[in-house]
Amino acid sequence: MSHVMRNSRFIIVSFLLLVFFSCSKENKTTVASPDGKITVEAGIEDGKPFYKIETGNKTIIEKSFLGFILKGNDLFCKDFELMNTDFRSFSESWTQPWGEETTVDNTYNEMTLHIAEKGGKKRELSIVFRVFNDGVGFRYQFPKQPNLTDFTIMDELTEFALVGNPQTWSIPTNHTNYFEHLYRKAPVTSLDTVSTPLTMEMNDSLYLTIHEADLTDYAGLNLTSKQGSSTLKADLTPWSTGEKVFAKTPFNSPWRTVIISKSPGGLMLSRLMLNLNEPSKIEDTSWIQPGRYVGIWWGMHMGAYTWSQGPKHGATTDNAIRYIDFAAKHGFQGVLVEGWNYGWDGDWSANGDQFNFTKPYPDFDIKKVTDYAAKKHVKLIGHNETGGATKNYEAQMDSAFSMYSKLGISCVKTGYVNALLDHKEQHASQYGVRHYRKVIETAARYKIMIDNHEPMMPTGLQRTYPNLMSQEGVRGQEYDAWSPDGGNPPEHTTVIPFTRGLAGPMDFTPGTYKFENPALPKTHVHTTLAKQLALAVVLFSPVQMASDMIENYEGNPAFEFTSTCPTNWARTVIPAAAIGDYLIVARKDRKSENWFVGGITDENARKLNLHLSFLDKNTKYKAKLFKDGKHADYKTNPYPLDIEEMIVNSTTTIQLNLAPGGGTAIIITKI
Ligand code: NOJ
Repeated sequence: MSHVMRNSRFIIVSFLLLVFFSCSKENKTTVASPDGKITVEAGIEDGKPFYKIETGNKTIIEKSFLGFILKGNDLFCKDFELMNTDFRSFSESWTQPWGEETTVDNTYNEMTLHIAEKGGKKRELSIVFRVFNDGVGFRYQFPKQPNLTDFTIMDELTEFALVGNPQTWSIPTNHTNYFEHLYRKAPVTSLDTVSTPLTMEMNDSLYLTIHEADLTDYAGLNLTSKQGSSTLKADLTPWSTGEKVFAKTPFNSPWRTVIISKSPGGLMLSRLMLNLNEPSKIEDTSWIQPGRYVGIWWGMHMGAYTWSQGPKHGATTDNAIRYIDFAAKHGFQGVLVEGWNYGWDGDWSANGDQFNFTKPYPDFDIKKVTDYAAKKHVKLIGHNETGGATKNYEAQMDSAFSMYSKLGISCVKTGYVNALLDHKEQHASQYGVRHYRKVIETAARYKIMIDNHEPMMPTGLQRTYPNLMSQEGVRGQEYDAWSPDGGNPPEHTTVIPFTRGLAGPMDFTPGTYKFENPALPKTHVHTTLAKQLALAVVLFSPVQMASDMIENYEGNPAFEFTSTCPTNWARTVIPAAAIGDYLIVARKDRKSENWFVGGITDENARKLNLHLSFLDKNTKYKAKLFKDGKHADYKTNPYPLDIEEMIVNSTTTIQLNLAPGGGTAIIITKI
């Protein structure tokens, strides 16, 4: 039994209840959340399956139809009748090897509709609804049956018929950009095809996020507005040949998920997507170690180093040793080294099949570097840029991971810089989904953690494979080094925690201290220094890189925060949040009684009250604030930083004075 499962308390609250329906016209049934506040009604209308969601007696998703078009214009969405319905309730609490909190509550009521075609082949389909206190998940189950064996999905017809015309935050589905966009705020009726998570404000006390969970051997979900209406329809990422999913019964689709919350902070605290993934398949998770790292990395993005061989080659033995010394001195767990292996010379993104994942460049003595790292109790973090050539990578994966594990490399950052995988298939297609899963499963066999760049969108798989630590799939800090549009606007980081961040950990890499790029003077970091510190708490990632070159950290008092901020948490609370405006996140360290707080704002200066009611009662703490200094402003004067100490307790309120584009970072230690 796995570590996670051992820690789970399975409490089957009520038991399987079978309700048999006759083939009457009244073909619908309902299930409510454990607290009774969310209700799902589902059934068949004129032969078509549908569902509807209500909360607090108000409909939020109107009658929305379900089903598929299979190959050969085979409409698997009509002429159905309801055969029977199962109900079940479930409750457990499970332990995360790492995460935003130690334990997760997983309590829901479940309703499964078993439907079948009335005539013809009489094919069967089941639709399972799980209703939690924080939202709904539903999935299709294709049972094994004589008249449906191998099948091909050409279109998934799942609808989300939203009530009204809510404001949404979305990125366009642009299959060439790895989800690296700025989020746009727009009413749902104006959406084209967008990626999920799609977050929306129904009114000022109701927020929704639509996404998916457990994306296994399927195609990634996108949503498209039906003829400019408030009804969104699934739009799966296709294969190059146009099919969406090749499948064989028995088969499950991923869960379609709707998080429902009264506040934006509530969206961030929902663990619905994790709960809808299978428990850990990894029994011994002791080798899975979160941590903060530095890297031979920002230097490449600034043009100071190259990945390829030559006079500016960054990944040299000496440079790696210099970074290891720095990491050891300041308590970092790892050092990422990019550009260490053959394949970078020339147009590496076009020629990914040239990458060799076991052969270091001559000026990088990998044995010497890893031996030195081990002596210093620091881990070398491997880097496998594939240029999207997955076949080349898969052919070498076993030998590479076996070599890394012998060298003590237990975390690998992977990368897929190419619009298409193997010059053909999209990252979020079933082809890509299969590849990324293969990497995670293979890595798990060699006890290797993965930090996946240019990924498919995360869907909570880290519950099943906790070695899937972090993923990019976001416009990260690197855009501040070279983006032709000048870098990430201050608002960006006040949006992504409520959108992309809900899908899973983000490898955004905050922690840049020097904001200009001499090689590209128009590009720079659009935050204050204090905000760079705060982002380390706000943007969750169990492995997180302090992005800058190490020489830019030396002697800066801000570095106390960057070098001590943990990446693994026992608890998370959200004291204040408004999507696109501001956010305060407070997290309790897993290994101590200390709390770390990050407060950030967009381009506007703000005063925010932080009540410390999350601290233990009747206990004294010391708070050390790293805050925007006098006249700090992300545009004109980003560096001033004041450090202040005060004694606080659970009744204290601290006023955070955030500069334009600014932030405050706080370390709170028990006295
Ligand atoms: C893009 C990744 O996001 C970045 O972190 C990496 O340095 C380059 N690709 C090269 O692999």
